Amino acid sequence: MTISSFLPINEVELQALKERFEKNGQGHVFHFFDELEMEQQAQLIYQLLDLDVERLNEIYKTAIKGAEASVLNSNTTFEPLPEAVFDSVLKSSPEQIRDWETLGLSLIAQGKVAVILMAGGQGTRLGSSDPKGCYNINLPSKKSLFQLQAERILRLQDIARQYQRPSQLKDCVIPWYIMTSGPTHAPTYQFFEANHFFGLKKENIIFFEQGTLPCLTMDGKIILEAKDKVAIAPDGNGGIYAAVQNKGVIKSLKERGILYSHCYCVDNCLARVADPVFIGYSVSKGTDCGVKVVSKVAPEEPVGVVCVRDGKYSVVEYSEISQEVSERRTADGASLLFGAANIANHFFSTEFLERVPQFASQLEYHIAKKKIKYVDMSTGEVVVPKSNSGMKLECFVFDVFPFANHFSVLEVDRKDEFSPLKNAPGTGADCPETSRRDIVAQHVRFIEAAGGQVEQDGNFEELEFELSPWVSYAGEGLADFVAGKIIKTPAIIETKEDLIRSLN
Ligand code: UD1
Repeated sequence: MTISSFLPINEVELQALKERFEKNGQGHVFHFFDELEMEQQAQLIYQLLDLDVERLNEIYKTAIKGAEASVLNSNTTFEPLPEAVFDSVLKSSPEQIRDWETLGLSLIAQGKVAVILMAGGQGTRLGSSDPKGCYNINLPSKKSLFQLQAERILRLQDIARQYQRPSQLKDCVIPWYIMTSGPTHAPTYQFFEANHFFGLKKENIIFFEQGTLPCLTMDGKIILEAKDKVAIAPDGNGGIYAAVQNKGVIKSLKERGILYSHCYCVDNCLARVADPVFIGYSVSKGTDCGVKVVSKVAPEEPVGVVCVRDGKYSVVEYSEISQEVSERRTADGASLLFGAANIANHFFSTEFLERVPQFASQLEYHIAKKKIKYVDMSTGEVVVPKSNSGMKLECFVFDVFPFANHFSVLEVDRKDEFSPLKNAPGTGADCPETSRRDIVAQHVRFIEAAGGQVEQDGNFEELEFELSPWVSYAGEGLADFVAGKIIKTPAIIETKEDLIRSLN
């Protein structure tokens, strides 16, 4: 075989590359190499040059060992969180919550807070090929999840401006770092661009792409999805730690003087982005790594639970918890013993994010069995399987909990902060309809708490009422307008003027 100058490497280098994959038991990736066009050969070589095959095999081995241990090891101990690391807004006094909020807002005002969005997931359960954040949950305004989040940032920036010192020259900015992945990067960026970055300044939204890992067969062989292409998948939301190091995010945080970040999942329509209460709470506790939880509703609810596993802070994911552990109850039987449901809202100090490489090699990958398209090695045909054909290896964002110096957990009110969008329309749980219902119900509560009323019959699924987060982040600033008044529906309130117009 002759190697043309078209290929990125010479013949000797190609031979070395082949030997390296063979030595690591992955030589089959070259199975169809000789029958490929030169361009296809180049594409495959580029992919393989980028692939750390030794590290991949290591990750596979530890993931398998971890999975076997969790099945076989009945000695694993689970304990609920100790009181010292757990607080609840449901049990704290209004004064305490206000103090946390004031601290959070003054840190935002000083430009010390950023948000990091994990938006690299592929949303397969939802059944949409667009990034989840673009999803329209059929609110009266038809806003996407991204837009709701952007408007919360805009509103918080406005509120925090009131906490700036007169001597402060810089405007109040909450930079928004958005982690995408191969499949979500271009469509996410295009969506923001087409929507003029939802009123935020373009330079304050920073997109960065997480890493990928090859998909493997159940016995650890790299899957080819075409003769010239390795099947790859995002490396899980725990890929955030490598990505913030490699993609310049830490550098940018430091240049901007950011000390704390709120990191959250794209799919929770109620997510309190950059929540000042959570920021203030975490900072007041000296936290370097923290998490928000809500009370788990039932043993089978598909949420991870925050607890202590084998003496270490941990999340036991819904896919990993046994029925017996998930059903355990507190001594009085009143609630689930493991009831601290992870809502994937994290607090990190910049110092913590910087420290992750020191322990990154100890982070375990998890196995997600999936239907992965593959090339049949004997026939060369592409097979689209109906059952699981292989695995994706994923690191989880909470896998770093055991390495926190100061871990803390804040329980919040589910109805105000957690309504995830996981499932396809019509499934009845964690779906677009429940997201819409929960937002509209929250907006009605905001008006009622401010002393007003919304014309409605309690059917929030159908109610045409909506309050832009840009008008009110968490119910603040409404009483002067709505106390003692009734809002006529339908009403989509985008501004204070809309609010005044909607009053009876
Ligand atoms: C996640 C939590 C679970 C929690 C639940 C609450 C993790 C690993 N699990 O579960 O404990 O109870 O949310 O709703 O966090 N993502 C990436 N890159 C990836 C994979 C995912 O950025 O490679 C992002 C997704 O875009 C999403 C978030 O991570 O924003 C959560 O991912 P998803 O797979 O939906 O997690 P769940 O299984 O729902």
